[in-house]
Amino acid sequence: MAKINDNYLKLKAGYLFPEIGRRVRAFAEANPTAKVIRLGIGDVTRPLAPAVLKAFHDAVDDLATTERFAGYGPEQGYDWLIDTIIEKSYTPRGVELKTSEMFISDGSKCDCANILDIFAMDNVVAIGDPVYPVYNDTNVMIGRTGEADEKGYYQGVVYLPCNEANGFIPALPTGKVDIIYLCFPNNPTGVVADKAELKRWVDYAIANDAVIFFDAAYEAFITDPAIPHSIYEIEGAKQCAIEFRSFSKTAGFTGVRCGLVVVPEEVMGTTPSGEKYSFNKLWLRRTTTKFNGASYPVQRAAAAVYSEQGWQQTKEIIDYYMENARIIREGLTEAGVTIFGGVNAPYIWLKTPAGMTSWDFFDKLLTECHVVGTPGSGFGPSGEGYFRLSAFGNRDNVVEAVERIKKNLK
Ligand code: MLT
Repeated sequence: MAKINDNYLKLKAGYLFPEIGRRVRAFAEANPTAKVIRLGIGDVTRPLAPAVLKAFHDAVDDLATTERFAGYGPEQGYDWLIDTIIEKSYTPRGVELKTSEMFISDGSKCDCANILDIFAMDNVVAIGDPVYPVYNDTNVMIGRTGEADEKGYYQGVVYLPCNEANGFIPALPTGKVDIIYLCFPNNPTGVVADKAELKRWVDYAIANDAVIFFDAAYEAFITDPAIPHSIYEIEGAKQCAIEFRSFSKTAGFTGVRCGLVVVPEEVMGTTPSGEKYSFNKLWLRRTTTKFNGASYPVQRAAAAVYSEQGWQQTKEIIDYYMENARIIREGLTEAGVTIFGGVNAPYIWLKTPAGMTSWDFFDKLLTECHVVGTPGSGFGPSGEGYFRLSAFGNRDNVVEAVERIKKNLK
């Protein structure tokens, strides 16, 4: 009989969001008249920007013609999309990238997982706590960890606690690690890192020959002009950082699927015999073997995000979500809840009232307010006692959810 990858058996629970979905479905079935408002998973609710939608439609029409039909594209993405992203999103921030350093994908979640393919198993990984669960779980699945302890920490992983005392920004590891996951604006806490903060990480990475995986999925939600959108705005980062970006939240592509990875040519690892080797070459090799590229219409739609009209319309949608974030932040602060994030990020991280556990507060909100959020403990042990609300709902629902919670907590 074929043997299973038993690393999967080390995983403590099902993936967080399906588990929440299961509980919400059970509640909705038992309470069919309850109007449940979902502010749990960060899934967008606004339609695509009209200019983006038009490009999407036009590209589908291209497929109906012999002249403009598109079959397999380049596995790493079309140059016209990559060059547009570099020109519109990186160059204005003083970041120079080559076309060959960017790879278009079908989403950032897969990229964050797949990147592990090109790193040796005996690299030591540092992960924040709380954290986007994909970073932790994919290291467990691939076999880089031992078993979890009773708190949920896996053997072999260096966890970097993020709490109120450190402003939810982790301290540098005390020893040497080889791979560091950073996510700013942060999911789940919504906090951001300034240039000085990121410089500390880049300096650490260079001094320790480490690689930073920088997840910038939420960069478009930054409102403070002093906050960097890309780690490459920090001197030296092109030597030591791989950056992930996503169209999911920026342009409402959670169902459309498009993301990107930047692997600068200077980011080096070592071979078993100690020679330097470029991760860019390995990622290209992996991509061309295991992926056939994001679909042509999706890439056309993604390129339209950067057209003048497309960007203006996209920005309006981002502003809409950030206004939701303001409504949640201010409403719950009025209700006496301690709030973090939600200023440069679409997530509001709150302290559960009266010291409730995250899951108890989840149940209370679901059963008493019919509002769904995400328990902080689902993002790691240090998330216990916290709770995340997403600003991606539609306005009426967000206003109603805040009113219901305010009334309940009075
Ligand atoms: C979240 O709610 O944390 C995100 O939507 C999950 C994701 O982007 O995969």
